[in-house]
Amino acid sequence: MKAKAIILGAGQGTRMKSPLPKVMHKIAGRSMVRTLLDTLSDIDIKESVVVVGPDMDNVKQEVAPIQTVEQTERLGTGHAVKMASKVFGKYEEGCFFILFGDTPLISKETLLKMYEAFEKGSDIVVLGFVPENAGRYGRLIVEGGELQKIVEYKDATEAERAVQLCNSGVMCVNGAFLWDLISSLKNENAAKEYYLTDIVGLAREKGLKASVVQGENEELLGVNSRADLAVAEKVVQTKLRTLALEKGVCLIDPETVYFSYDTQIEPNVTIEPNVFFSTGVKVQKDVVIRAFSHLEDVEIEQGATIGPFARFRGGSHIGKNVHVGNFVEVKKSTLGENTKVGHLSYLGDALLAENINIGAGTITCNYDGYRKSKTEIGSGAFIGSDSVLIAPIKVGKNVVTGAGSVLSKDVPDDALAVTRPRLFLKEDGAISYHERKKK
Ligand code: UD1
Ligand code: CA
Repeated sequence: MKAKAIILGAGQGTRMKSPLPKVMHKIAGRSMVRTLLDTLSDIDIKESVVVVGPDMDNVKQEVAPIQTVEQTERLGTGHAVKMASKVFGKYEEGCFFILFGDTPLISKETLLKMYEAFEKGSDIVVLGFVPENAGRYGRLIVEGGELQKIVEYKDATEAERAVQLCNSGVMCVNGAFLWDLISSLKNENAAKEYYLTDIVGLAREKGLKASVVQGENEELLGVNSRADLAVAEKVVQTKLRTLALEKGVCLIDPETVYFSYDTQIEPNVTIEPNVFFSTGVKVQKDVVIRAFSHLEDVEIEQGATIGPFARFRGGSHIGKNVHVGNFVEVKKSTLGENTKVGHLSYLGDALLAENINIGAGTITCNYDGYRKSKTEIGSGAFIGSDSVLIAPIKVGKNVVTGAGSVLSKDVPDDALAVTRPRLFLKEDGAISYHERKKK
């Protein structure tokens, strides 16, 4: 595809009431601006520029290596596009897509439709839609199948305001003409801004062709507030749930399961209600994830059973048929095939081989207040309940540790390790105790 893209994101988004620039807010675990860039790269558009406002280093980092240009004064969408001319020259044989950073749900199919219209001879293709409430959107004035002009709500007559076909903001413009059109823009309007939308009227005067492609309302949702962000999240979650179900994932109550844009789940996985997938999760087939589990950055192999109330993070790998039970946190750890950690444990920076049993309440002490250290446990080990493993430590194969042990040095293969004060036992001692106390 012969296209480059300009993404406008200079607005701080005051209505978000957030310290973050608007385009940094996430939907299904991915920033709005990254969402757009990923859609563009899906259709092989690699050259893009993001227009940012002052003090938006975090946006620059987020989009790198994609270039950014700064718009220091917010003089309108047309002015914002002009900033990108510093990076892009004319693009004689292709077009420029202009996208808004706060309209992130646009699909690649829609962009392809617009490109098709460009290839068929439209110099400007505008993405229109008919929202439930046309409100203050710009209106698309179409006559004889061709787009004549876009009028901003503030500048529209009553008759123009009655038009229901609205401007989504997304455009595809012939690369040979964009910069000439942009430099002819004037700011003689109600907002005293350089409106990008005016390029349609200007193009018509020059005998160029403009047309409209109509898009789905859901994908043209603009995010201006936290409430809008929540609506966008819902739209995306609904899509991700549908995709999972279609793939053969069993969701007992789909509405309560939250996915990340990159969650990968194989067929025949069962997910109980109230499970949250953060980024970087891969789950192989036949896994069962029980209610109220939270997963981030973890790969889970076939047949494992997880939860309820399990938590994963930091790059963990869970082997075949492993069981991670309730109230267990696993951070940056690997658990080999058939290993079981059933109850109330913390495994951090740990490497566990196969067929290990970790008793209830066992924890790895991986952090001494200065640095993180590793715990290694060999295959077949049986770690007694409430063991404390002070890392760095290596526990050998087939080791048995007594319940309540605090292990502070390596344990060789096949050893029994117990650290425990001897039991003091006095027969009938309880009776004499009470007698003594009552006196
Ligand atoms: C714009 C359109 C309107 C359309 C609506 C759809 C214009 C003149 N109007 O209006 O027809 O119906 O979007 O949502 O284009 N931006 C900059 N720099 C600026 C101004 C804006 O980067 O100087 C960015 C914003 O960060 C935002 C986008 O451009 O991502 C849209 O700007 P906004 O002010 O929200 O435009 P609207 O008034 O909503
Ligand atoms: Ca807007």
